[in-house]
Amino acid sequence: MDRRYRKTIIAGNWKMNITPSEAKKLTTALLPLSAVKDTSIVLCVPAIDITTVKRTLRQTRIAVGGQNCHFESKGAFTGEISPEMLIDAGAKYVIIGHSERRSMFGDTDEIVRKKIASAIAAGLRPILCVGETEEQRKQGVTEEIIRVQIKSAVYGLSADDFRKIVVAYEPIWAIGTGNTATPEDANEVCKLIRTCLRELYGARPSRSISILYGGSMNEKNAKALLAMPHIDGGLIGGASLKPDAFAAIVEASKA
Ligand code: 13P
Repeated sequence: MDRRYRKTIIAGNWKMNITPSEAKKLTTALLPLSAVKDTSIVLCVPAIDITTVKRTLRQTRIAVGGQNCHFESKGAFTGEISPEMLIDAGAKYVIIGHSERRSMFGDTDEIVRKKIASAIAAGLRPILCVGETEEQRKQGVTEEIIRVQIKSAVYGLSADDFRKIVVAYEPIWAIGTGNTATPEDANEVCKLIRTCLRELYGARPSRSISILYGGSMNEKNAKALLAMPHIDGGLIGGASLKPDAFAAIVEASKA
């Protein structure tokens, strides 16, 4: 199986939880995970927590990520954070196009495309999120939706830059609901994402892109999801706030 060409990644998305002083405690509880060798662990934290988390993680293999960025490097954009700022604060990754950003903060496919390009130009690895609503799944248009989201997000990216992305399939109906996709359904969409990437960039570059699943992944269902051939890791919301649950998911990711 092609799994050997790509990294297994377990990424936590803390969303708008955890203050800087709480971040030190939560991150400290996760430090034992730095001994894990074959899984890349990433904590995508509120921007104001990055410095604290980075400092707490120093000399470990656990990486830090942001949850969003602007597509401009600097300027009169009150309240926004640039990719360069994330890098300077110690982030290596950034989530782009999370469904909460798309549905509540106006991130269109075109904005997502611009953010991906800028994040890569600044040296970040974007975690591109795609996923269908419950309605779209019922209507049988999941494939079309995913294809549009993927193709517009990477439009114009060079083959070299394309290698820096990570994709997360997050069906919107599974986020924060406790309704996880079945391993088979999640695997099928992750496979479709790879097919779509292969059509755009060819077999060799696309086989090395890690494709994660996100949506109510927890310590109980992680093993079955992560055992699927096209699921290369997880993007975890709620369970990433609980050190034991997050550690158990990392454990479940081991081959
Ligand atoms: P939950 O794990 O809380 O469903 O959140 C998933 C998610 O949105 C990760 O980005």
